[in-house]
Amino acid sequence: MKIQALDTSVSNWSGDCLGIGFFEDAVDLDPDLAELDQRLGGVCQELIRETEFKGKSSEQPWTRIAGQGTLRKVILLGLGPKDGFHLDNLRQAAATVVKTAQKQKATHVGLQLPLWNEDATASAQALAEGIELALHQDNRFKSDPEAQKSGDYPQTVDLLGLANQGAAIEKAQQICSGVILTRELVAAPANVVTPSFLAETAAQIATEYGLTLEVLEREDCEAQGMGAFLGVALASDLPPKFIHLTYKPKGTPRRKLAIIGKGVTFDSGGLNLKVSGSGIETMKMDMAGSGATLGAAKAIGQLKPDVEVHFIVAAAENMISGHALHPGDILTASNGKTIEINNTDAEGRLTLADALVFAEKLGVDAIVDLATLTGACIVALGDEIAGMWTPVDSLAEELSQASQRSGEKLWRMPLEEKYFEGLKSTIADMKNTGPRSGGSITAALFLQQYIDKTPWAHLDVAGPVWTEKEKGYLNVGATGFAVRTLINWVMGND
Ligand code: BES
Ligand code: MN
Ligand code: ZN
Repeated sequence: MKIQALDTSVSNWSGDCLGIGFFEDAVDLDPDLAELDQRLGGVCQELIRETEFKGKSSEQPWTRIAGQGTLRKVILLGLGPKDGFHLDNLRQAAATVVKTAQKQKATHVGLQLPLWNEDATASAQALAEGIELALHQDNRFKSDPEAQKSGDYPQTVDLLGLANQGAAIEKAQQICSGVILTRELVAAPANVVTPSFLAETAAQIATEYGLTLEVLEREDCEAQGMGAFLGVALASDLPPKFIHLTYKPKGTPRRKLAIIGKGVTFDSGGLNLKVSGSGIETMKMDMAGSGATLGAAKAIGQLKPDVEVHFIVAAAENMISGHALHPGDILTASNGKTIEINNTDAEGRLTLADALVFAEKLGVDAIVDLATLTGACIVALGDEIAGMWTPVDSLAEELSQASQRSGEKLWRMPLEEKYFEGLKSTIADMKNTGPRSGGSITAALFLQQYIDKTPWAHLDVAGPVWTEKEKGYLNVGATGFAVRTLINWVMGND
């Protein structure tokens, strides 16, 4: 599928499916559209009248065109009020059109949409992202080749009135290759995506885009005293892998950053086994933080910013066996802090503890971790918003801005020190879980114990990494959440 930015006006364009955007209460045809409409015998005006189209964001009427050259379909897209118009409206609008085109087997699509903020580059990038992400289909595990057929449509998408935006489109495609890698890692089952598979994926990224890779094996982790991480891996037959992938720019880096992703390739809960109805069958997605980390690495390797980035994943499986961690065991993390395990299902924070200590030793300017850490965060924020915890206001601001541009929602949550009471242990430095209430906050407070002085933010992405409903450019299943936000953050929102 080819996306191209063309200077062509709507009335001069030829292709078989045309999507035209309108703001709310602004559905008059401009002169160029009026000319096209006249040639089509007034079908656009008729569609507006018949469907009482007002340009509201939920409205997407379309009509078939008979016998008028190649054009077979016109879709009107409601964009909602001009005031609240956002880059994500462009992604969503582009997704609607290409998905309709795909279902209707249209090969050549044209998109006529207004610019966001008069910024042609950002608009072209957002449109291309919406198209790429909407059309991504995952047929890896289907035996029927017929299932792939709709993948042939459309073949070309033209962004009209956006000449010379080839670079923005290429950037979008590089970013989306990262998002798609993330989606595929998260969607693949735990018998495919193992800790070793994550390490091999990191190796492929390193080879392809010139990053450096260091993988610490169990013994290496033992030597570094990573008792918390290794405790989680105890019961699995699969070896843990501590993955450290580094992107270094050519010259002196403007900043040094670390991104850490939770990489629990399956979370059974351990001996505090997840009971039926607790979502155990979805726990292949408990490596979504690491999926986003590797997806971001793949994109950064292509975008080549002047920032050094360390991508870190402490990958393991949380299983049961005679080797399993017992509830009550005490583990010592690599910074010397001891943890009484009062729940083996709070394993993510154990893997992250050693990863945070490792990241801080690299001397980076800031650390962001991403984790499907708590069900409590989903209870608090639902499945479209990730929680963000950080003691540093400027880092919160950077991440919020990055998320506003990506359309991936974050909400800052409190690091309420008083709640650390709930993690106090009589026998060790702390327990790994506190009371049920405020569960996502105590999880963040636990992680904070493993940060000394580096600016740090924790993103609990348990909700938005997966969707059961198709939503615009998100298809059912893994969403690839956080990759585009991370890229914006690293690139400095430029
Ligand atoms: N991976 C889960 C969190 C999770 C739950 C992610 C649902 C996505 C959907 C995590 O390891 C976990 O089990 N957390 C426990 C913590 C509890 C034992 C304190 C939880 O949220 O129930
Ligand atoms: Mn768990
Ligand atoms: Zn987990």
